[in-house]
Amino acid sequence: MAYKRTELTPEQIDGQLAVCAGIRARNKQSGKAPLAMVDTYGCQQNEADSERIRGYLAEMGYGFTDDETKADLVVINTCAIREHAEMRVLGNVGQLTHTKAKNPDQIIAVCGCMVQQEHMAEKLKKSYPIVDIVFGPHELWRFPELLLEQMTRKKRVFAVDDAPGTVYEGIPHARDSKVKAWLSIMYGCNNFCSYCVVPYVRGRERSRRPEEIIAEARQLVAEGYKEITLLGQNVNSYGKDLDEPMDFADLLRAINDIPGEFLIRFMTSHPKDATEKLFRTMAECEKCAHQLHLPVQSGNDRVLKAMNRHYDRAKYLEEVALARRYMPDLVLTTDIIVGFPGETPEEFEDTLSLVEQVRYDSMFTFIFSPRKGTPAAVMPDPYSRQEKQVWFDRLLDAANRISAEKHKEYEGKRLRVLVDGLSDGKGGNLSARTGGGRLVHLTGDPALIGQFVDVTITGSNTWALYGEL
Ligand code: 5AD
Ligand code: SF4
Repeated sequence: MAYKRTELTPEQIDGQLAVCAGIRARNKQSGKAPLAMVDTYGCQQNEADSERIRGYLAEMGYGFTDDETKADLVVINTCAIREHAEMRVLGNVGQLTHTKAKNPDQIIAVCGCMVQQEHMAEKLKKSYPIVDIVFGPHELWRFPELLLEQMTRKKRVFAVDDAPGTVYEGIPHARDSKVKAWLSIMYGCNNFCSYCVVPYVRGRERSRRPEEIIAEARQLVAEGYKEITLLGQNVNSYGKDLDEPMDFADLLRAINDIPGEFLIRFMTSHPKDATEKLFRTMAECEKCAHQLHLPVQSGNDRVLKAMNRHYDRAKYLEEVALARRYMPDLVLTTDIIVGFPGETPEEFEDTLSLVEQVRYDSMFTFIFSPRKGTPAAVMPDPYSRQEKQVWFDRLLDAANRISAEKHKEYEGKRLRVLVDGLSDGKGGNLSARTGGGRLVHLTGDPALIGQFVDVTITGSNTWALYGEL
């Protein structure tokens, strides 16, 4: 599958920024400070996309609100990974009928992965007349132009053409946190796991150039960010499409070489492409968190093959052992799908036994959800939802028990953590993360937010650690 990467030119993004300036002038003329609400569903890539949308909106002079009744513009950034995510989005778009009835000038935009599916774009067109603008991930870079078109022509705008995708630079970000930053290193996915809609909605894998990524990382460090999370659907295939190919481990080392006190995290790694070089680099780079999200999806070889994952249980277990040899303190997390079409009770037991063997620090578990257009959606699926739910509950029980046991091992230890925000949970007013990414609640001066501090772990449960300064 030869895909020629296309990069947008700086002029194309500058053109959008000029449109932002035009909208800013328009908003100013209207005499009131306009407010926007951006509502985000789904994964970290979507969080990062929403920061770009907010970056554009800030250029247009919008302030931000979480209250849809006060918003002049509502942007809903959607997810398509499972049916549940789509139902939530549609429910919330439906709710906006009431706010729009009270404020007919309100503009409603729906974007992201869900709308990149033709049947969903059609559904919005036909059944949700309150929606004014619809655009997929490929069109995000020209959101200002789409908004201006809607504002001037007062017509509904749909921009959801299918495309392999582009690489772009220079869209401003309005970041959510002052401590932690997302940094997209690549877009799209080439893997076509048989259950997954991502390659269809986000297009082919394409990498940003290393010099752009390193410049952005330097800038983040200069602005005082203490944690940078590199994002891609499969970071281990970073750089394969570049004129001068570069691998992910080399990129990691280059970012590690940037002077300053900060942590590097990344996600997601596909087990088929994880290498010893990556684990060695992680171990050698002092700023790289000893944290690996390595989705296994299933512990059974037949199911893994049907999922088109390109590894088997033995290879996965070898990889985990190798990663732990390089980093004995590695925090390992995973994703698992229960009830893939045709998965038998015995095959599910293989997943459970893998989980007991690996002992993940935490797990994200899902019941299979058929996605239109994917091969798995048309595979025979003889087991009922109720049967799958029983398996799922067993898996969740195991995951929770193991997380609690692993957290218990931290008690009494002294750790360096990054204080990253205020906490509303019991056990303290501040939240922090360990090097491996475990959540710690503690009590202290909010001025510590953004600092690395030493804490003693005094308690724990399945979800978090409790610490004292
Ligand atoms: N059904 C259930 N879970 C899915 N995932 C991806 N597609 C599906 C689907 N159709 C899960 C995988 C992936 C995570 C992001 O979402 O476990 O790693
Ligand atoms: Fe989906 Fe597989 Fe790509 Fe992950 S690697 S986004 S599960 S197709």
